[in-house]
Amino acid sequence: MSTDVRSQATAVVDVRDLHHSIGERKLLDGLTLEVAAGASVAVTGPSGSGKTTLLCCLSGLITPAAGAVRIGGVDIAQASASERAAMRLRTVGTVYQFGELIPELSPLENTALPVLLAGGDAKAAYADARSLLDELGVGAVSSTPAASLSGGERQRVAVARALIGRPPVLLADEPTGSLDQRTGDVVADLLFGLPARFECALIVVTHNPQIAARADRTLELSEGRLVTAERTVG
Ligand SMILES: Nc1ncnc2c1ncn2[C@@H]1O[C@H](COP(=O)(O)OP(=O)(O)OP(=O)(O)O)[C@@H](O)[C@H]1O
Ligand SMILES: [Mg+2]
Repeated sequence: MSTDVRSQATAVVDVRDLHHSIGERKLLDGLTLEVAAGASVAVTGPSGSGKTTLLCCLSGLITPAAGAVRIGGVDIAQASASERAAMRLRTVGTVYQFGELIPELSPLENTALPVLLAGGDAKAAYADARSLLDELGVGAVSSTPAASLSGGERQRVAVARALIGRPPVLLADEPTGSLDQRTGDVVADLLFGLPARFECALIVVTHNPQIAARADRTLELSEGRLVTAERTVG
């Protein structure tokens, strides 16, 4: 019973005292971050400050030198590589700057792929992929090879793929960086609507102050820690 109460009160993302260096460079130096379900955070900071490295620690692609990375109460920093691979689909979904879809596959196939790779039921995966693509406004192009899609369409498909495992945490690394302002705004509207629609936490890395201003909080990665950033917009 007490465990239930505690887990309800705990932030879905709970990062404590995270440390990580690459070569001689200390990128994360005692970093702490808490994000609740339904909340969004923008992370800014100069190029090379370690933002992508931080997201990789959150998604389990990098094992940090020290610290805890709890997602839904489970410390992924302590999990083995195979445990992390098994958890990935249902823990954290990621949207990258260029969508990173498999160009020969259709949006339907790209979206269903994480479930298929995890050994899930193909029929259910395709049905779910179709409904997500419809909901995200790209149902009409669900059979077109991803290579032929526009940048904005690709990002919507990437969002569908990130959502298919219904992860409690969504990460986006420069999701609008390769889009023109109008398309970027449309993708940003979509992204920042997701925490309420899917009850997930959203962490968006961006160099764009207008995109950052849409998040509930903006934090800057500075000297290996996250500090509250001054908003220049909004
Ligand atoms: N595998 C690696 N080997 C060597 N250096 C690396 C490696 N991965 C990252 N780095 C270095 O670590 C630093 C932080 O990289 P990271 O990609 O996290 O920065 P970033 O804040 O995301 O930058 P940007 O805004 O340009 O995307 C950079 O100086 C980068 O060159
Ligand atoms: Mg980066």
